[in-house]
Amino acid sequence: MKDTLKTATLTLNGQTYELPVLSPTAGPDVIDIRKLYAQAGVFTYDPGFTSTASCDSTITFIDGDKGELLHRGYPIDQLAEKSHYLEVCYLLLYGELPTAAQLEDFETRVTRHTMVHEQMQNFFRGFRRDAHPMAIIVGVVGAMSAFYHDSTDINDPWQREVASIRMIAKMPTICAWAYKYSIGQPFVYPRNDLDYASNFLRMCFAVPAEEYEVNPILARAMDRIFTLHADHEQNASTSTVRLASSSGANPFACIAAGIACLWGPAHGGANQACLEMLREIGTVDRIPEYIERAKDKNDPFRLMGFGHRVYKNFDPRAKVMKQSADEVLELLGIEDNPTLQVAKELEKQALSDPYFIEKKLFPNVDFYSGIILEAMGFPTSMFTPIFALSRTVGWISQWKEQLSDPAHKIGRPRQLYLGETRRDYVDIENR
Ligand code: ACO
Repeated sequence: MKDTLKTATLTLNGQTYELPVLSPTAGPDVIDIRKLYAQAGVFTYDPGFTSTASCDSTITFIDGDKGELLHRGYPIDQLAEKSHYLEVCYLLLYGELPTAAQLEDFETRVTRHTMVHEQMQNFFRGFRRDAHPMAIIVGVVGAMSAFYHDSTDINDPWQREVASIRMIAKMPTICAWAYKYSIGQPFVYPRNDLDYASNFLRMCFAVPAEEYEVNPILARAMDRIFTLHADHEQNASTSTVRLASSSGANPFACIAAGIACLWGPAHGGANQACLEMLREIGTVDRIPEYIERAKDKNDPFRLMGFGHRVYKNFDPRAKVMKQSADEVLELLGIEDNPTLQVAKELEKQALSDPYFIEKKLFPNVDFYSGIILEAMGFPTSMFTPIFALSRTVGWISQWKEQLSDPAHKIGRPRQLYLGETRRDYVDIENR
């Protein structure tokens, strides 16, 4: 962050205030209002943070107009094509691409932490069988702070590191077990000779009675889904993690908070909602009816998997995901999948409709991911857990960055109060 010597001038009640302007390495300048209240006695108002930078960061950058997503400077399409999830995890966590030796060491460390404490199985079994896997995952990740006491001291860099590795390593096991529990099958333990994605697929689909042969093309597609969701700068769940962490909460509690936020249909829940919508539309001839509904201000219906707060041109992740959907469906011999046909036609029609053009609404990462996951055999209830698994590294990287900043302080937004002013209590018989 450079101090540019530029200032913005605010005139208020006849007084003039000079506000410093900070220059990022990429993206728009930022007006520094940290001293505004002390100097001018006013707050700023920005619900939804549409114009407010809540922190500085060196991890991920999105150029919404160009449709560009960079992790530590590297474009997501290059990472999706040439790299793989654990290497991207290393990049996000430590800032640089690893050497071969560093990568091997990192993969070994992650692999050695994939098992969860045996007693944690009791937590899974405490849930109703029909619980949504996200409900189980929020609970179990929160409960990790009761099992891993030696990695909850946020002031100890070594403990922070161990907690980070533990969460990246254990999330596939926790998500797979949430799924296994929901379908009444026994938990499958991780296998350390498999790569990260293959291990997850096996823990989801193997049963003691029959081994699961991991198809390398499906494992690659799974890995790509993880990579495409790994981080996305200061989105709602990441901001939730940062806010929870700002009070000094332990890492497992913070990530559980992020998972809870991700679950909502406007965020990580959109992939489930999108596939359900595509199925509900069912056939191509019904698309115009749904497009009309999405445009109708009196109808709360929105095209799920469409639109984004930051991307206003295209979501670069959606491009890779669409290509991956084609590959996976071809491999599985289901190219004429009706859901994919509806998705492609819906995209085509929406993108040529003036409403969507004017509002710069494009398919986001979730528009095609559900089709791939369904083809792999996942039920819709597992879509958001897979997003949570993938995003864990992003949350952790942002959490570590926040804690390593000596100037970090508790997050405490102000408000524009519009309620009653002071009034006296009225006894119940007089109301
Ligand atoms: N379908 C129809 N209209 C839409 C859609 C949509 N999917 N998305 C936005 N709009 C319209 C809004 O009605 C609004 O119209 P108006 O200006 O006439 O009031 C305008 O576009 C702007 O929308 P906002 O909701 O103000 O934009 P915001 O940046 O707050 O919301 C969001 C972004 C939440 C992603 C929104 O586009 C949406 O709800 N999309 C569907 C859910 C979804 O796919 N979420 C996944 C997000 S990506 C992720 O988390 C991985």
